[in-house]
Amino acid sequence: MQIPNLTEAKKRSNQEIFIKTDEYIVKEDLKKLGIGKHYFVKTYGCQMNEHDGENIKAILEDMSFTECETMEEADVILLNTCAIRENAHNKVFGYLGRVKHLKESKPNVIAGICGCMAQEEVVVEEIMKKHKYLDFVFGTHNIHELPMILNHTIETKSQQIQVYSKEGDIIENIPVKRTSQYKAWVNIMYGCDKFCTYCIVPYTRGKQRSRRHEDIIAEVNELKKEGYQEVTLLGQNVNAYGKDLSEDYRMEHLLTDVANTGIARVRFVTSHPWDFTDEMIDVIAAYDNIMPYIHLPLQSGSSRILKLMGRRYTKESYLELAHKIKERIPNCAFTTDIIVGFPGETEADFEETLEVVNELKYDSAFTFIFSPRVGTPAAKMEDDTPLSIKEERLQILNNLVNQHALEANQKYLNKVVPVLLEGISEKNDQLLMGYTDTMKLVNVKADAKWLGKIVNVKITDVKTWSMDGEVVEEI
Ligand code: SAH
Ligand code: SF4
Ligand code: F3S
Repeated sequence: MQIPNLTEAKKRSNQEIFIKTDEYIVKEDLKKLGIGKHYFVKTYGCQMNEHDGENIKAILEDMSFTECETMEEADVILLNTCAIRENAHNKVFGYLGRVKHLKESKPNVIAGICGCMAQEEVVVEEIMKKHKYLDFVFGTHNIHELPMILNHTIETKSQQIQVYSKEGDIIENIPVKRTSQYKAWVNIMYGCDKFCTYCIVPYTRGKQRSRRHEDIIAEVNELKKEGYQEVTLLGQNVNAYGKDLSEDYRMEHLLTDVANTGIARVRFVTSHPWDFTDEMIDVIAAYDNIMPYIHLPLQSGSSRILKLMGRRYTKESYLELAHKIKERIPNCAFTTDIIVGFPGETEADFEETLEVVNELKYDSAFTFIFSPRVGTPAAKMEDDTPLSIKEERLQILNNLVNQHALEANQKYLNKVVPVLLEGISEKNDQLLMGYTDTMKLVNVKADAKWLGKIVNVKITDVKTWSMDGEVVEEI
């Protein structure tokens, strides 16, 4: 039993991080554990967590479990959770009600949770007290231990909690079951050292640890060989890639080397404005296969609030960076994240956020009401803005963001743009769907033979969140 500890999670040690290429093993007898049995993994949260979900599925398949479509058919249920805001928590606890109910009628079903919520001391305490029917809990630092934990759960028939608050080494040999055959997520770094005052991620994901560039490039080359068209380089703060390594090899070098593999499309998330260098902008502008799309979280347009958030940029420096990118990368699409109702945010602060949004006219934005997270500095800041005012601000912001999103999309009408067709459209199964180079969702009238291809699509209609189009020709 190892339970998470907030004080430990806050610490940053200078201990060297090792790269381990044989840490993940499944013992011979465990390789057959899941024969004839099914698993169901439900993932919440960011792309990084989605990618962890792909690792977890592959590990369960190494133990001979087979994936099933619903929780009700499963022998092993795993919730891969997110802790970023209160509503992420609520979703998971709501779902746990269903799990509990199912376990009452099928007591042999094994259910566990993992992911960022599992790293939270308060959550694990609650699980131990109120959710005794859960069989196991493990964290973000020990996914590779899943076979052992699962086996232990089965053997002991007692609740297993195995969560480390200190990040571990980088484990390079964890398998992956990718969701798409055409586009792939590639971790380039783990953890985050920025400690923005509202954010739980530095506690749930540990200190920043960059993967070796050789390993990243090898993974991209392998994906290209397998026919993948697109990679998205993942990290909480990708622009800081390499800063924790001794070599002078940073994000601009990595982007160059990944682009030079010749894979058709390269994307990356998320960029923190603080570490965005001119060299990076030059590289993005120079390579056709680095997509002209940048997610640049603003959080707030008020320098005063940004300071309280610990973001280390100002309204002015953010705007300068955004304009520089727009100038050097023409047609670059911009999206952002914004928090309204941060403790102490006044009407005037909020107006400044609207000013920035009006000036930059984002292609779209993810907007949130501030959610206090236990253990973070902002959770202790005085907050006298009523929720109703915060909700009003969110509404005003969303209306503006939506208006700009529609205007940005309208510029695409009747244009021909490249789209990677990656699946069947959710709104109409006669259509395919995919994304433009600028990350616009398009529902496309196209023959199924174009699946997995980058094709020229003529945009025939635009809406706020998507567009319609038809294939003109393969590029
Ligand atoms: N690493 C990324 C963000 C990851 S979290 C970055 O630094 O940009 C994704 C988004 O969730 C954040 O950009 C922020 O807008 C939002 N978020 C994080 N913590 C939050 C909180 N406590 N309350 C509300 N929104 C939050
Ligand atoms: Fe959170 Fe800030 Fe790190 Fe992003 S950069 S994950 S917002 S602490
Ligand atoms: Fe959520 Fe953890 Fe990602 S808190 S946003 S799943 S890093």
